[in-house]
Amino acid sequence: MTDITESHRVVGAPEVAVVEAAPAGEPSQELPRLPDPLPEAEIVQPAETVHDTLSEGHGPADAAPASGEAPVTEDVAAPPPKVFPYDLESPELARAFGAARTPRAWTDRPVDEETFRHLYDLVKLGPTSANCSPARYVFIQSRESKDRLRPALTPGNVAPIMSAPVTVIVAYDPSFYDYLPRLYPQADARSWFAWNDDFSQETAIRNSSLQGGYLLIAARLLGLDCWPMSGFDNARVDQLFLDGRGWRSNFLVSLGYAEPVETPRNPRLAFEEICEVI
Ligand SMILES: Cc1cc2nc3c(=O)[nH]c(=O)nc-3n(C[C@H](O)[C@H](O)[C@H](O)COP(=O)(O)O)c2cc1C
Repeated sequence: MTDITESHRVVGAPEVAVVEAAPAGEPSQELPRLPDPLPEAEIVQPAETVHDTLSEGHGPADAAPASGEAPVTEDVAAPPPKVFPYDLESPELARAFGAARTPRAWTDRPVDEETFRHLYDLVKLGPTSANCSPARYVFIQSRESKDRLRPALTPGNVAPIMSAPVTVIVAYDPSFYDYLPRLYPQADARSWFAWNDDFSQETAIRNSSLQGGYLLIAARLLGLDCWPMSGFDNARVDQLFLDGRGWRSNFLVSLGYAEPVETPRNPRLAFEEICEVI
């Protein structure tokens, strides 16, 4: 078990009391393996259905409007899947949300490298602004690499990370925009970011955090348990693992197969408290 009060604290941050969640989840269930990834041709939208609104929509608010925009085409929307009234015990919702818990301890079951690839094949499909895809991932699996990570961790996070089958650094590439000519060829999207450090940094953080969230849900849907962590020294992790490429760490996610969580889940805020319909 981990002392969460300690483990959530960012290294170097003042000590604060953190009330940790607890209980109990159901054991991870195994999903059948995914088939081989779809051929690229099956997952890329045909050009005529791609919305090309981004020349204006994705730039900084003060950017000059782009000229020569392609007309917006309407997708013929498929009817949304019927999920309401939802059943949190339906297999997919249970796996992703209802029964899914943040682990407290790992089993010995390993995660093989092929699973990392299946995971990425799902994560990469999650949307990012202008398809900028700034997240980068380092899968820390070997004992030697784990030992290198150890000194960057908040004390309470050492044991859960050292015992995890794999820990992913969810990072971002501050120069993500250099890929935009390939990732968003409809417009000169690189120019929206390349000369605007604040805007590109904000975009990299926002979208890599989203991609980290996609990773959590995709991992759960593949039958894995995941334990995200921000209790570590980002600068140290960057120096130890990322500097050569110029990437920066956002947060860590350990993946594996967890022991059942026995403590009850902490409460969540009610719709009426925090949502507004206007
Ligand atoms: C971005 C992020 C950072 C987190 N950092 C830590 C951490 O440093 N140490 C830790 O033990 N748990 C960490 N957690 C786990 C959360 O405390 C846990 O997911 C949350 O309390 C929900 O628990 P539940 O899934 O059991 O409902 C983190 C979770 C997220 C999403």
